[in-house]
Amino acid sequence: MTTPVLELRNVNKSFGPIDVLHDISLKVHAGEVLCLLGDNGAGKSTLIKTLAGVHKQTSGQILMDGEELMFERPKDAADRGISTVHQFGGTFPLMSIGRSFFVGVEPVIKWGPFSFFDRKTANETAVKAVREFGITRIDDGDRLIGGLSGGERQALAIARAVHFGARVLILDEPTAALGVKEAAHVLRIVFEARKRGLAIIFITHQVMHAMTVGDHFAVLIRGALAADFRKGEKTREEITDLMAGGEAMAELESEIESYAQSDSETSSAAQ
Ligand SMILES: Nc1ncnc2c1ncn2[C@@H]1O[C@H](COP(=O)(O)OP(=O)(O)O)[C@@H](O)[C@H]1O
Ligand SMILES: [Mg+2]
Repeated sequence: MTTPVLELRNVNKSFGPIDVLHDISLKVHAGEVLCLLGDNGAGKSTLIKTLAGVHKQTSGQILMDGEELMFERPKDAADRGISTVHQFGGTFPLMSIGRSFFVGVEPVIKWGPFSFFDRKTANETAVKAVREFGITRIDDGDRLIGGLSGGERQALAIARAVHFGARVLILDEPTAALGVKEAAHVLRIVFEARKRGLAIIFITHQVMHAMTVGDHFAVLIRGALAADFRKGEKTREEITDLMAGGEAMAELESEIESYAQSDSETSSAAQ
């Protein structure tokens, strides 16, 4: 087996007395999508913030290409090609597509002692980058981010990360707020990024979305890895059950049953 692009070895994270992540070990390879599943509060965001240099792990190691990483700040992770795309694309509604694509890395034209933001180059580069991902509806770099759909924003953010050489792409619930068609679109883009050899960590609690693009699945429950399996090893029902933590699901079912029962009692009493 090849060396994973990213590996976590026995990672723990506490905030003061609160233990949030317990002994997490995971590997992500190039050209592979790891789906990180788990209910609200399971520790998904804490895990990816640790990978992105926002938090420092309390103990354990994070390795890239087999070499241990030491992040002091988010920029260190970004410099190593670890790119996080947040739910809403993380961009500013009043900024143009071209501008937002180059935030922090603006192409400039120099004229004597002056330099200008090279709008034409920025626009052309941004539009070309998203088109390579099959988004042909974005054809004008001067358009504002606020006018794009949720799916288009995600596409733009992913295309941007790939353009600037990301090797690890972390997607935090990219399809959560989207309609079916838009979600399918984003999933296609995730697939495209996978084809280009990125190592992808896809966070979701929508099992169907995970099953569409995932090669490898990890389920977090209360900060611990409850399951770690590959495509085809579990059914949709088994994954849903796992995420709900088994007993929670059984509890819900019996609750629904008792509601149904009292409902039928009331209606028969009324007759
Ligand atoms: N900075 C923090 N300080 C203390 N507790 C935190 C902090 N960040 C997250 N937590 C706790 O860690 C747990 C996991 O949160 P989070 O990683 O956001 O879960 P998820 O993204 O899976 O919903 C929660 O109980 C949350 O309250
Ligand atoms: Mg979260």
